[in-house]
Amino acid sequence: MPDSHAPAPTVLDEILSGLSAGQKTLPAKLFYDDAGCALFGRITELPEYYVTRAEMALLGRHAGEIAAHAPDGAALVEYGASDEAKGMALVDSGRGAFSAYVPVDIAACALEAIAQRMRSSHPDLPVLPVQADFLQALALPEQLGERPLFGFFPGSTIGNFRPPMARRFLGNVRDTLSVASTPGSVPCLVVGTDLRKDKERLIPAYDDAAGVTAAFNLNILNHVNAVAGADFDPSRFRHRAIWNAHEGRIEMHLESTVAQTVTVGGRPIAFRANETIHTEDSYKHTREGFAALALSAGWRSGGFWTDPESLFGMHLLLG
Ligand code: AVI
Repeated sequence: MPDSHAPAPTVLDEILSGLSAGQKTLPAKLFYDDAGCALFGRITELPEYYVTRAEMALLGRHAGEIAAHAPDGAALVEYGASDEAKGMALVDSGRGAFSAYVPVDIAACALEAIAQRMRSSHPDLPVLPVQADFLQALALPEQLGERPLFGFFPGSTIGNFRPPMARRFLGNVRDTLSVASTPGSVPCLVVGTDLRKDKERLIPAYDDAAGVTAAFNLNILNHVNAVAGADFDPSRFRHRAIWNAHEGRIEMHLESTVAQTVTVGGRPIAFRANETIHTEDSYKHTREGFAALALSAGWRSGGFWTDPESLFGMHLLLG
C-alpha cells in the first residue's frame, strides 16, 4: 500500500541532493509553510527590513506613472502575488486602465484570500487567480479573451533567483506575455528589485535584533522534518547572514553548533561543528546590472523608478 503521507519523491530527492553536496543547501521554496509565511509577514514589518516599506513608498509616489504604460483595458498579471496591496496600488492609480487582475501564485490559500478581499474592495474588477509554479511555462485563463497583458513581479523575489534562473524566468514570462498579447502590442513587465547598498544596511535587514529572520531561517528545518521524515533539532543550529560582495548577494546559512548526524528520509547526514547549510540568496542588483540581465533574456529597458531614499528600484521592461 503506498503511504499517502510519503513526500513527493522530487522534494525528498532535492533535499537529499542539496544536503549531500560539498556546500550543503536546502531549496529556498521550503521556507514557505504556514509558519514560514507568517514569519515572513512579520519580517516585512521589522524596523530593519526596509525592503517592503521602500517598495510601497516607491509605488505611493510613482504608481500612476508606471500604470500609465499599461495599454487600455489591460489585464494586470501579478507573479508571486502573496497579497494584492502592490497590484492594487497600480490598479487604483491606473484611472480605469486595468480590466482584470490575474494573481499567480503556488499557494492556493493566498489566492483565495486575495479573491475574497477583492470581491469587497474592487467588486467591478474581475479577478482570475492562477494557481501555478510561475517558474514553469504558464497557461493564462481563457476568460482573458483578447485583453492586452501587463506583467508585474514586485517584492524583489527575482533577487532570490541566481542569474541563470532569473534569466530563464524572464524569458518564460516574455514568451507567456508575447503569445497571449494582442497582435502588434509589445509585452510589458514591471519588476521590483532591491538595490545594491552598504552592508551596514543590508546585514541587519537579514539578521534583525528581535530574531524574526533567524526564526524564519530555522523554521525551514521544521518543514524539512515534516516533508522528508527528518529529525533536525533547530536548537542545534544558528542563523547566519553574510554579505557576499563578489556575487552581490546576501546569503542566509544555518550553522551547526556541534558535530552531529541528522537522519533525512532514512539517510544519515553528518555535520561538522560550524558547518553550514546555505538556505537562501538575496541578490542586490544595481540598476545597470539588472537591465543587462533583462536584456540577455530578450527584454529592453522602458523605464526605471526608485523610492525617495533610492533603496529599491522598479524596472519597466519591454519585449
Ligand atoms: C521574498 N524575498 C524577496 C525576501 C528577501 O528579502 O530576499 C526573503 C527574505 N529572506 C529573509 N528575509 C526576507
